[in-house]
Amino acid sequence: MNDENLIEHAIKAYKNAICPYSKYSVGASILTTDNKIISGFNIESKAYPTTLCAERVAIFSALSQGYRKFSSLAVVTIDGGTPCGGCRQIIHEFAGDITIIISDIKKDYFKIMTKDLLPHPFG
Ligand code: THU
Repeated sequence: MNDENLIEHAIKAYKNAICPYSKYSVGASILTTDNKIISGFNIESKAYPTTLCAERVAIFSALSQGYRKFSSLAVVTIDGGTPCGGCRQIIHEFAGDITIIISDIKKDYFKIMTKDLLPHPFG
């Protein structure tokens, strides 16, 4: 699985985002160490704070399917936005120090490790 491939999965997820309030779509795809890809997108609720970010949907889906070891995570937005603080914590806690691929929908991307995205993490 190469980076561009994982980004393509995240772009597919991005296209299905449910974000009628912010209109800011986010797609995320996480790669397991045994080469499975689990994707998610942001899902917004009428009760705004109960919204879930794409990264957490992808990671929690993977965990609920029994996967525990991950090697990289691609996050796609229109402008190459980076994960929010809450998602950084969840990535750190449940995926560890993995490669995070931040991309826009044109596949213009860069890579960063969890420890650089969340220095001095809690826990
Ligand atoms: N969002 C994500 O999906 N991931 C992040 O890391 C930051 C924000 C979503 C939440 C909301 O649906 C929209 O982007 C605007 O904040």
